[in-house]
Amino acid sequence: MFLSDRVMHMRPSGVTGGLLLGGKPVFMDTYPDFSLKEEALRSVITDKTKIILVNSPNNPTGMVNSKEELDMVVRVAKEKNLLVFSDDIYDKFVYENGTERTYLGQLYDKTITFGGFSKTWGMTGWRIGYVAGPKDLIHEGLKDKYHVVKPDGAYFIFPEVPGGNGDKFVEKAWQGAK
Ligand SMILES: Cc1ncc(COP(=O)(O)O)c(C=O)c1O
Repeated sequence: MFLSDRVMHMRPSGVTGGLLLGGKPVFMDTYPDFSLKEEALRSVITDKTKIILVNSPNNPTGMVNSKEELDMVVRVAKEKNLLVFSDDIYDKFVYENGTERTYLGQLYDKTITFGGFSKTWGMTGWRIGYVAGPKDLIHEGLKDKYHVVKPDGAYFIFPEVPGGNGDKFVEKAWQGAK
């Protein structure tokens, strides 16, 4: 969808998302406490960076980033004009400090939010997910590259899987990532 030269990931993390997009993953260390540190983030951003990918709550660390950390990411993303990908797939697995949560999508309009049903609803085999973001990035970005179905009046669209089915799509993506 949004092909990039460089996709910033936090280490430790999974990199599948960036690889499927055809991006080259670049890692930012979050050790020793797994928090997002401005100096560490700035040190790995180059003029090729297109996207910062944040996954909070995080797999595999379980880290839930604070509002201050997310504000920092937004500040840097705004300054460098970067997209933010917010993988919020574990957002219902926070049991501390009540239910009040801050999402990157609330803080920065160039955020693409990723969610899914497999974790929250225990439907791991289904692999059903969604992305949400500003219209110009989602609809305008998809419509020329993919066959999309947009029901009249609805605020959602369904993209057709490139390659015909999920297996072919993932196969192709991994070929491209090698
Ligand atoms: C951080 C993260 N994002 C997204 C996914 C994708 O989840 P699923 O394929 O179950 O929808 C996973 C799966 O483990 C994950 O750990």
